[in-house]
Amino acid sequence: MYDAGQAAEAGESAAAGMGAATGERITSAELAEEDLALDRSLRPKMLADYIGQQRVKDSLRILIEAAQQRGDAVDHILFSGPPGLGKTTLASVVANEMGAHIRTTSGPAIERTGDLAAILTNLEPGDVLFIDEIHRMNRMVEEVLYPALEDFALDIVVGKGPAARSIRLDLPPFTLIGATTRTGLLTGPLRDRFGASFRLDYYEPEELAHIVQRSASILDVSVDEEGALEIARRSRGTPRLANRLLKRVRDWAQVEGQGAIDEDTAAQALAFFEVDTLGLDAVDNRILDLLCNQFGGRPVGLTTLAAALSEDTDSLEDVYEPYLMQQGLLLRTPKGRQATAKAYEHLGQVPPQE
Ligand SMILES: Nc1ncnc2c1ncn2[C@@H]1O[C@H](COP(=O)(O)OP(=O)(O)OP(=O)(O)O)[C@@H](O)[C@H]1O
Ligand SMILES: [Mg+2]
Repeated sequence: MYDAGQAAEAGESAAAGMGAATGERITSAELAEEDLALDRSLRPKMLADYIGQQRVKDSLRILIEAAQQRGDAVDHILFSGPPGLGKTTLASVVANEMGAHIRTTSGPAIERTGDLAAILTNLEPGDVLFIDEIHRMNRMVEEVLYPALEDFALDIVVGKGPAARSIRLDLPPFTLIGATTRTGLLTGPLRDRFGASFRLDYYEPEELAHIVQRSASILDVSVDEEGALEIARRSRGTPRLANRLLKRVRDWAQVEGQGAIDEDTAAQALAFFEVDTLGLDAVDNRILDLLCNQFGGRPVGLTTLAAALSEDTDSLEDVYEPYLMQQGLLLRTPKGRQATAKAYEHLGQVPPQE
């Protein structure tokens, strides 16, 4: 799966690979380590620190409070939505609010049914089990999960051939939190076993500006309201990107500016790093260019467009199109994908008359 965050990370590491002042080499492992530690410190821990997604937060609060009053584990929860919007963060927020331990794994990491059995039998009552990329879980493994979710039980087969028999192990009550960029790829039986399912949406610039302000105070960087808003507008509706751009603007302000970040500094820095005014990345812009120019403005089928981009149709539909549609740059029509007048304007071209 393509992860816009990872791609940006790779580019960033390449650019920052040299220690500017001393010229010594910083290994990308060290860089990643530093970035990870920083990301952890920026991650909100409780619902009250979590900015935006108000509807989701309201529902979660009720779910959590009700479970606490009953002394139960929270119902199983599914978070879906494009990369970098806060699915992993929300999973740990739920665990923190419950005062529970969180065990983290991912769909592709659980290769055999035995791996999942080991994870499940090691859970303590009330634990949160977080499975990232849950849509990529092996079907055999998934089937072991069904009784675990529904009856807190594990059916295991001991022995082979005619002597084989199935025994049922009881599991402690626990909460599964699944995250996926693709609800469409989840099997029906799995989807039905989640008591609550939340889709995260892109953040509004005002919310992202708030996130930038919060991160800036953790990083001890001074940024005013307009500066934060300028970074927010170019963050593709995505907190991960907002935090990353804040760090780059901070670097620029430190070297080229006065250290503090206002609107002007932010705009200059972002222009220096060639960050698109709408926050579009290279692939987003390529999609618009294909639709407006290569395909001459006619509607284009999903598979044709994906092939022209060398991307799979899944990431096109789940990662790129939602943001382009939200920005009013792309339309899904019965005949195919089409660019809007705003797309032409964004590319600095005159929209065709029609
Ligand atoms: N509401 C928020 N307030 C403040 N920071 C946030 C918020 N949501 C996300 N972040 C920040 O954005 C970063 C990315 O969030 P997170 O890792 O939870 O995204 P994700 O949806 O799990 O992405 P992926 O699909 O790539 O795994 C985190 O490091 C966190 O600091
Ligand atoms: Mg995640």
